[in-house]
Amino acid sequence: MDYNNALTLLQRHDQTQLLKYYQNLSNSEKEVLLKQIEKLDFSCLNGIENLDDKKAEVGEYSPVNALSLNDLAAQNQTYFNAGKNALLKGEVAAVLLAGGQGSRLGYDGPKGTYNIGINTNLSIFGAQFKNMTDVVNAVGCYFTVFVMTSEKNDAKTKEFFKLNNYFGFPEDRIHFFIQQTSPACDFNGKILLEDAGKIALAPNGNGGWYSSLINSDCGKIINKENIKWLNVYSVDNVLQRICDPVFIGATLAGNYDCGAKVVKKSCPEERVGLLVLENNKPTIVEYYELDEKTANMRDSNGELTYRYGVILNYLFAVDTLNKVVGKSLPYHYAKKIIPYYEDGKIIHPQAPNAYKTETLVVDMIKLMGNCLAVEVDREKEFAPVKNKTGVDSVESARLLLIKNGVSI
Ligand code: UTP
Repeated sequence: MDYNNALTLLQRHDQTQLLKYYQNLSNSEKEVLLKQIEKLDFSCLNGIENLDDKKAEVGEYSPVNALSLNDLAAQNQTYFNAGKNALLKGEVAAVLLAGGQGSRLGYDGPKGTYNIGINTNLSIFGAQFKNMTDVVNAVGCYFTVFVMTSEKNDAKTKEFFKLNNYFGFPEDRIHFFIQQTSPACDFNGKILLEDAGKIALAPNGNGGWYSSLINSDCGKIINKENIKWLNVYSVDNVLQRICDPVFIGATLAGNYDCGAKVVKKSCPEERVGLLVLENNKPTIVEYYELDEKTANMRDSNGELTYRYGVILNYLFAVDTLNKVVGKSLPYHYAKKIIPYYEDGKIIHPQAPNAYKTETLVVDMIKLMGNCLAVEVDREKEFAPVKNKTGVDSVESARLLLIKNGVSI
């Protein structure tokens, strides 16, 4: 793309401020900026005006039924065999979402490389691969793992996997792909520069994982290996159980297009997304989207009526993903402090000044049309690492690892 084409494109989207310092740039800097402009995704800016006044329309909520721990125990062997069979046929692959910035943890490196050990070195990636190796041993085969990184952490993530011998997995079963980016913009929808010749870009949220995956070389692997199911999981749960045959078998046996591992909420205020029905269709609502009365409602046995929280461990049917991938996910706009370039200097704001634009994997559940909720024991499978200390932290995750007999 040359300067004139870039100018025309930006004029169309009312974003010509991005070329304000163009004439001061070196030739190579000009080239970088023009490439960034060519690749810009402007769709995230639609509907950004008067965001604070807008309220999404919601339907009628009702609680979802889950396969409870008791249901699973009763059918354990049947589900295990069905899941094992699918794994042995190579129909299931894992997708690790590791493109986030992990800003709450305040750690300068890919989150999965964080050492969760105390007396031993155990990275978050390492803890998750230990669990994956349990599955490999139980079913007798490896499975393919796709790792989503971001432009910022891709090189370091690959280096870490190599350094750790791919955590015992064959190197050719692990494939990396980089997630796409979206621009940061001010509250008037103007995209920011992070430097005179560089647009402020950030990973576009974990909702873009499937389009990033199939638009990378990994898309060909899915077709070539005839992978039918993708088990998507987050990097930040050190007790995460991935490609769990029982979970896979239960979803397959029920003829679902999608499965979600869920845990019982610890209290009405817990900050986890909830799997619920909206107009009788499964969907995930954020903890703040349920009013206080609904969040506190209890069944006759004293349990929370809306009790099933998601832990970012989903099984998706590839066929159905291919049908819905073109449908757009809603954008979420998070107010953040984002440094930006203006007139020769980088400005470091003291208060949130910009929107980070993201799509989220939770919004995909609605698109899938159906979803089996599978309850897991939170003490055994849910140890999120979001912060250094306090709730959902390195501290709380370490306690749970010890409780589960992991030597750290
Ligand atoms: P979070 O929502 O916790 O975001 O990610 P984060 O960026 O890692 O952390 P904070 O909010 O800055 O502290 C949940 C999961 O989604 C992945 C993360 O790596 C994590 O596994 N993710 C998030 C992506 O892969 N890409 C993204 O753009 C955002």
